[in-house]
Amino acid sequence: MKRAIITSALPYANGEIHLGHVASTYLPADITTRFLKLNGTEAYYFCASDDFGTPILIQSEKENKTPEEYVKIWNKRDHEDFTSFGIGFDFFYRTSSPENVIFVQDVFKKLQANGHIYEKEIIQFYCTIDKKFLPDRYVLGRCPYCKAEDQYSDLCEKCGRVPEEIEDPKCSICKNPPTKEKTRHYFFKLTNFVNELNQWLESDSYLQRDVKKYVQNWIKEGLVDWDITRDMNWGVPIPLDGAKGQVFYGWFDNHLAYISTALKFLDEKGLDGKQFWNSADIYHFIGKDIVYHHYLFLPAMRIGIGNEFKLPDYIPTRGHLMLQSKKISKSRNWYIGLKDFLGVYPADYLRFYLALITPYSQDDLNFDWEEFASRINSELIGNIGNFINRALGFTHKSMAGVVPSVTEFDSSDKEAQEKINNFSGELTPLMENNSLDKALKKIIEFSAHFNQYFQKKEPWKGGAGSGNCVFVSVNAVRSLAISLYPFLPESSQKIWEQLGMAGSVSEQIWSSMSEIKIPEGHKIGAASPLFKKIEASDIEANKAKLGK
Ligand code: 2FM
Ligand code: ZN
Repeated sequence: MKRAIITSALPYANGEIHLGHVASTYLPADITTRFLKLNGTEAYYFCASDDFGTPILIQSEKENKTPEEYVKIWNKRDHEDFTSFGIGFDFFYRTSSPENVIFVQDVFKKLQANGHIYEKEIIQFYCTIDKKFLPDRYVLGRCPYCKAEDQYSDLCEKCGRVPEEIEDPKCSICKNPPTKEKTRHYFFKLTNFVNELNQWLESDSYLQRDVKKYVQNWIKEGLVDWDITRDMNWGVPIPLDGAKGQVFYGWFDNHLAYISTALKFLDEKGLDGKQFWNSADIYHFIGKDIVYHHYLFLPAMRIGIGNEFKLPDYIPTRGHLMLQSKKISKSRNWYIGLKDFLGVYPADYLRFYLALITPYSQDDLNFDWEEFASRINSELIGNIGNFINRALGFTHKSMAGVVPSVTEFDSSDKEAQEKINNFSGELTPLMENNSLDKALKKIIEFSAHFNQYFQKKEPWKGGAGSGNCVFVSVNAVRSLAISLYPFLPESSQKIWEQLGMAGSVSEQIWSSMSEIKIPEGHKIGAASPLFKKIEASDIEANKAKLGK
């Protein structure tokens, strides 16, 4: 049996999940996991809250909570929101777990033993007004590479690189230029890994070509060693004497939680977690803002401990979600919280729309309220829902809910049957190579074909071919239920039940969507409309909430 481990970028335990998060990472990863499971892969989807880092510490202080209390709240809330959205993690854990802390410290010791760590006295920015060291997000300045202004010192949003030293620095709290103080930090020798990283990039044909290209360019232009220490107490403690009051940088420990979380789950399940990891296809779903970390730091650290855990096979990387063609911004209230959205529309509406507009590329995508309504109304409801409702409704009305027997197929019956037979063969490669939007479009085309077939055969006139039409159509509904399962888990289960099928659609075999499995004489379940139309007036109201 094939094996797979799927992860998606770990959300900071520091605020609610919004539409921007789910479009590029959680939804594609969930769709892929559900597909792999149906398609016979032993697949597990892992995630965790990203608990460490200065912003979280500061925010917990503002709210008079310990950081532990604070991240616990967000860990729970994020998990609840993901679950309401139908994101089916096999395990959602946290980077601050005891297992991860031990694992991170162990990795550090191995990296050190292998000669990839050194200590260096550095000059750190310090704000004399706010009286604190200013790591990462606390310094704004000009990117030394692309010269973009107003970038944080830990990541340039314009060119995606991690600046070695930001130019013209300012404290991001009080906006005054910081002073410099001496401190001792540990560095990870990223420069040790140039050859191995290049080799991996070249040999892994599943990585997206354009992302690979610019990562290779970064390597060509020269990597710099990576400061992995922070002068504060909230983080994984550095397991060495003399490193009191210092912890690891959050990006040193967070991606290791992919592994420590998987190991905890798999070992507790009675499997050998490490062996499973090393025999599985590894997928890390991310947004394009964290390419540097996932294509350089992450593999280098895994190589640095002697490839004890295999490198990723896939790092599906997608663009940012815009909202009404503008950049999402929490401070300007130009964003939509996942929980709020799901209070108004079913999860499957959002899954359907986002899956349709999210390509497998770095291109940004755009959430547009009007387009959302029109695609739900015309494609999900007008096409898919309409066909299912027609086929099943007619079976009830005219055939007492019993699938009729067939006579000889005419050419359109044969064509329809062929569509069913070819369906999984057309979908599977798209699902396998991450073209989830294209796969969903194929499903929509399939349904459109059956709408036309039903229309053309006019079974309500009771002609000779009516039985054939209903028989083939009910079977096409079954194919739709299975094919839609990764995209619309809740609705596809409803379709399954309306078909009167036993068990859960999640237990079916993916390729069986291409079989005619519902026999003559089968009694279907109760039919009712699956979806409710979106009203234009509601859309106006939703739009009016933005930016207020
Ligand atoms: O950028 C972020 O939101 C980070 N919390 C992602 C972490 S992914 C990691 F664990 F690799
Ligand atoms: Zn830059």
